[in-house]
Amino acid sequence: MQAGARINGAGLLFHIMARRKKSRDPWKRKIIGTLLAVLVSSFLYGGGMHIKLPEPKLSGGQSIEETLLKRRSVRIFSDAPIDIRDAAQLLWAGQGTTLGGRYRTAPSAGALFPLEIFLVAGNITGLRPGIYRYLPGSHGLEQVLEGDERNGLCEASLGQDPVRLAPAVIVIASAYERNAKKYRGRGIRYADMEAGHSAQNICLQAVSLDLGTVVIGAFDDDRVKKIVKMKTGELPLYVIPVGRPKQ
Ligand SMILES: Cc1cc2nc3c(=O)[nH]c(=O)nc-3n(C[C@H](O)[C@H](O)[C@H](O)COP(=O)(O)O)c2cc1C
Repeated sequence: MQAGARINGAGLLFHIMARRKKSRDPWKRKIIGTLLAVLVSSFLYGGGMHIKLPEPKLSGGQSIEETLLKRRSVRIFSDAPIDIRDAAQLLWAGQGTTLGGRYRTAPSAGALFPLEIFLVAGNITGLRPGIYRYLPGSHGLEQVLEGDERNGLCEASLGQDPVRLAPAVIVIASAYERNAKKYRGRGIRYADMEAGHSAQNICLQAVSLDLGTVVIGAFDDDRVKKIVKMKTGELPLYVIPVGRPKQ
């Protein structure tokens, strides 16, 4: 089995319903919280396979100043795979939870969190090629489809080679209706700004992992949406290839 525990939604429901008393043990509470998040996500996103990601590292050896100085767009990648731990770290940087799950690594207007992050896996050690939706609440992945979709995504990105060459591609999308109720038309602007925050987090996290990224905004929205199998109301904003820079 690849990539940690895979959990089935019905089994989870049984497990949770079987519990009567609220546990005082913080670890048990954490596990139950994760299981609940998985269950909710399986209802929200159609009950696909859930993959628990390795926990993110919360400290590193490089200063923020050094990281900012080193960030550069990288468009040529080596053939080397990236590890699932690196992919998990990048996803957490982009939209992972903080403060016990109440907030995210990127700011969000009204804490309404309109962004959705997808991982297009091509050559990731410990994860099968496929398309996955990142689930911040459980720090997991929901499999959207199996198979290497990088070539199609490259064509949809106007033939930009980094999308085909990178071992992984992160796609940031917005579900604008999440903040439209509160902010109406201005919610679009806010969600677009949030995608910038999230993308910058990913770029800086990549530098600290000795990985390279480029943020791509030139692509055919409808084709990217179709390849990634986004839901109605979700719109792709950024396509971000990530890999080891070719020396
Ligand atoms: C909104 C936006 C869209 C971009 N779209 C593309 C793109 O489609 N293809 C690409 O190769 N680079 C794209 N870039 C990256 C820029 O070309 C790059 O940031 C710029 O050349 C400055 O280089 P640097 O990132 O190394 O500082 C985009 C950057 C931004 C902010």
